[in-house]
Amino acid sequence: MNDKRARVRELAAEHIGKGDPLGWFEKLYQEAERGDAAIPWADLEPNPRLIEFWKAHPLEAAGKGALVIGSGLGDDAEQLAVWGFKTTGFDISKTAIEAAKKRFPKTQVEYVVADMFNPPANWLHGFDFVLEIYTVQSLPEELRAKAIEAISQSVAPGGLLLVIARGREEGEPEGQGPPWPLTRAEMDGFVRAGLTEESFEDYAEPEPPWVRRFRALYKRPAVGP
Ligand SMILES: C[S@@+](CC[C@H](N)C(=O)[O-])C[C@H]1O[C@@H](n2cnc3c(N)ncnc32)[C@H](O)[C@@H]1O
Repeated sequence: MNDKRARVRELAAEHIGKGDPLGWFEKLYQEAERGDAAIPWADLEPNPRLIEFWKAHPLEAAGKGALVIGSGLGDDAEQLAVWGFKTTGFDISKTAIEAAKKRFPKTQVEYVVADMFNPPANWLHGFDFVLEIYTVQSLPEELRAKAIEAISQSVAPGGLLLVIARGREEGEPEGQGPPWPLTRAEMDGFVRAGLTEESFEDYAEPEPPWVRRFRALYKRPAVGP
């Protein structure tokens, strides 16, 4: 395990042990801001699997609203804005949101500090496109189903949700996370939350860290005439 992940696991274990499973994100971003730690998921570029998805399925973005869950340092949110979405990126970490604003001073993205478990009321069924990359897998098991339900609630009727996450087999130990790879049954929580599954890919990354990943597209059925 590299040092970046070791620190993440140490901080997460410490906070989960104290009954505060979300508190470590802010701590980690603060340490990174001081130069004392690195953020293992922050590649400082849009996720290549998002770009690849977009090339294969470009969406109508003009005039549509997008929400980026756990937007971190902002690269994916910025990319959605470039594609034409009126984009909101939110994160529970104030330091992450401040860092994203600092990195993109001319941004068109609205960056908000918010907790997915207690979102602003007007986000309910509020977005045409919702992007979730690696947030659910960074939460302990007892929060993951709740997170999947909360994320699903932000998708508007007729809207889409793209999820990219580490994957594992049913019954395979989840290992010492975070991240805790998701099972297919956990991913099906998006369907149990009222969305339909439009596509589901299960693949191994062709380069380091060669991990198994799921990329799935869900839709909230449009309301009838
Ligand atoms: C593993 S990181 C992934 C960040 C980004 N999506 C990416 O792909 O690089 C998970 C992010 O979700 C944020 N997060 C965790 N729990 C959250 C919550 N309850 N509400 C909002 N953001 C949360 C963390 O602060 C962190 O930035």
